[in-house]
Amino acid sequence: MSRTILITGASSGLGAEMARQFAALGYDLALCARRTDRLDALRAVVVGKHPDRRVEVRALDVNDHDQVFEVFRGFRDDFGHVDRIVVNAGLGKGAPLGTGKFYANKQTAETNFVGALAQIEAAAEIFRDQNAGHLVVVSSVSALRGMPKNITTYAATKAAVAHLAEGLRVDLHGTPIKITVLYPGYIRSEMSATAPNTPLMTGTESGVRSMVSAIEKEKSSARVPGWPWEPLGLVLKVLPLPLARRFM
Ligand SMILES: NC(=O)c1ccc[n+]([C@@H]2O[C@H](COP(=O)([O-])OP(=O)(O)OC[C@H]3O[C@@H](n4cnc5c(N)ncnc54)[C@H](OP(=O)(O)O)[C@@H]3O)[C@@H](O)[C@H]2O)c1
Repeated sequence: MSRTILITGASSGLGAEMARQFAALGYDLALCARRTDRLDALRAVVVGKHPDRRVEVRALDVNDHDQVFEVFRGFRDDFGHVDRIVVNAGLGKGAPLGTGKFYANKQTAETNFVGALAQIEAAAEIFRDQNAGHLVVVSSVSALRGMPKNITTYAATKAAVAHLAEGLRVDLHGTPIKITVLYPGYIRSEMSATAPNTPLMTGTESGVRSMVSAIEKEKSSARVPGWPWEPLGLVLKVLPLPLARRFM
């Protein structure tokens, strides 16, 4: 039986590149996002390159919570099983708290936290039923410490989803179900399109290669790419506030 991976937010950036790299590793793909034209184009590329791969696509808005359960169950029914689910869909909108942009922070909070909660619930339901599976949650290095300015809410949502996954890991300890939390640093994507090109920014393909490697090893958690984000993550956690402020 072939291995199947479900990826949310597969229409661009890290999700689309994960789809390409996992197809090259021999996985069949279940891909979802709102922009299905992008998913169709991605399917054509993947199947063109790997004719033996099966790729199914479905429209999904993670803020439509009933649809999250329908789409996940639909993919499970298409393939008969799902081996791995990557909770990746996310939004980077935001503004400093108290500056009149509650709507933007709320949208990010709903998509990145409540939307992710729905995805984790739907994934855990499938994996409990199969008594097997690997859940991957895409958090961020911004989750490691409270962050200022436009990413305060974003960082809080990424800390929250990491905690959800870690809590579920306690529940599922001793079962065949595995959980990985990824903390990516800066990786080029639509979300980071306007971010400056500093040495901390990694290209999409190499950044996602680090993510895929950590996922394949079923690591409990990983800051990716490991260099420089494993040591920088440690520094970020303990740096005194006046110094930290200069780098955030
Ligand atoms: N790039 C980085 O440096 C970085 C660092 C740390 C963490 N991350 C995380 O990595 C994940 C992927 O982000 P990215 O960098 O690849 O950004 P991206 O290129 O903007 O991709 C975001 C993906 O999420 C999907 N999405 C957004 N809102 C959605 C919704 N309501 N329903 C369904 N899908 C939705 C988008 O698809 P549609 O618009 O087609 O729905 C798109 O496929 C995010 O969780 C992000 O927070 C990224």
